[in-house]
Amino acid sequence: MTYAPEVRARLETDAKEIIGRYPRPRSALLPLLHLVQSEDGYVSDDGQEFCAEMLGLSKAEVVGVATFYTMYKRKPAGEYNVGVCINALCAVMGGDQIWEELSEHVGVGHDETTSDGKITLERLECNAACDFAPVMMVNWEFFDNQTPDSARQLVDDLREGKEVAPTRGPSRLCTFREASRVLAGFPDGLAGEGPSAAGPSLEGLRLAKANGWEAPKPGAQERGSEK
Ligand code: FES
Repeated sequence: MTYAPEVRARLETDAKEIIGRYPRPRSALLPLLHLVQSEDGYVSDDGQEFCAEMLGLSKAEVVGVATFYTMYKRKPAGEYNVGVCINALCAVMGGDQIWEELSEHVGVGHDETTSDGKITLERLECNAACDFAPVMMVNWEFFDNQTPDSARQLVDDLREGKEVAPTRGPSRLCTFREASRVLAGFPDGLAGEGPSAAGPSLEGLRLAKANGWEAPKPGAQERGSEK
């Protein structure tokens, strides 16, 4: 199967715009993979061939990259990619428990999709949001301080089509395909919505201000150690 002519034409227009942002075409491979993922819901065989053709790469070079990064899906993903952080801190704060109960609740395991095509479950490594552990991400938006109950409620709401808002960031969740298009380099205007840092992330700053602490001036440590 190849792309229908109108789809191909649309993808080519977008791909040329992306490629034009880089000094060398091959540098555009990562966003192009997101672009085809936004079209197909995963990095399809057609998508890989399209990327290779547009960038003057071999299919093997494209496949080598697409199979290295876990954000590129090798089979059709659900409308919502639901990740549970099971890295050390989240795991001991309840992430392992959330994963086990959520997986049992929806009846799929890692990198598997529910039969209604709504939810793909994924075990995630650290999302750099440890101060809100245990953390989940849906289509790369944060859901902080989760519990098994809140996780079950979250996926139930998503499957029922209810409007769901992340803890931080935009006021609504986009679909996996929409998120992939943003990652391809076509902003949806939601990036600046909502707080990006809050609560415990800012605690150190609050303490420093309260105590009048200041960061050392550049080079001060080296000068101090020379005395
Ligand atoms: S360990 Fe889960 S966000 Fe860092």
